Amino acid sequence: MKLRDVMFSGKSERGNRFFTKMMAFLDSPKRLKYDDPVKLVAASGIREGQRVLEIGCGSGFFTEAASRAVGESGTLVAADLHPVAVETTRKKVIDSGLTNVTVVQDDAMNSSLPDGEFDLILLYGVVPSPVIDPDKLADQMHRILKPGGTCAIWTMVPFWKPLKYCRGGRFTLDGKKDGVFLLRREDR
Ligand SMILES: C[S@@+](CC[C@H](N)C(=O)[O-])C[C@H]1O[C@@H](n2cnc3c(N)ncnc32)[C@H](O)[C@@H]1O
Repeated sequence: MKLRDVMFSGKSERGNRFFTKMMAFLDSPKRLKYDDPVKLVAASGIREGQRVLEIGCGSGFFTEAASRAVGESGTLVAADLHPVAVETTRKKVIDSGLTNVTVVQDDAMNSSLPDGEFDLILLYGVVPSPVIDPDKLADQMHRILKPGGTCAIWTMVPFWKPLKYCRGGRFTLDGKKDGVFLLRREDR
């Protein structure tokens, strides 16, 4: 099995055990000392009434903050490739009574989400990654966003820059707020 299959198919026991541990680590209360989900989500420029996609929701660490930020008139799709992540976030959404969130299993590099659907994409804690091809992901995010939409990227990796995501005229770096890169979708 390739690394990507072990990690993300949901069919490897070892992969699932590792993934479940990672979910617990990402959702640990200690993390709140370093990463403030409300502040980081607000840094994306998210607004009430928007249709937002969260790619790689994992344990749902940012999902509640994003759901509350778009409010009752907005909608959030929380997506992840891994079935354990989908299940974990779905449970959190139900337990927290968040009615404007749909949790889906989706591979962001080969997404089944429709064209021009979202005002904003949150890509938080997902890149850089050895299993993600920036060109494929950038193409999909460009396709899924509405014209003029924003892709907000937050990474745990110091000194990382979203240069590969701006290649080929898909996105322009519009600024950085509280560590969140703001990429504006360009027409090509
Ligand atoms: C390190 S976790 C971060 C989770 C969450 N955003 C956070 O910061 O707590 C990265 C997540 O991205 C997901 N992921 C990786 N590749 C993906 C892909 N191609 N499509 C969708 N999700 C993906 C993983 O399954 C994992 O849940």
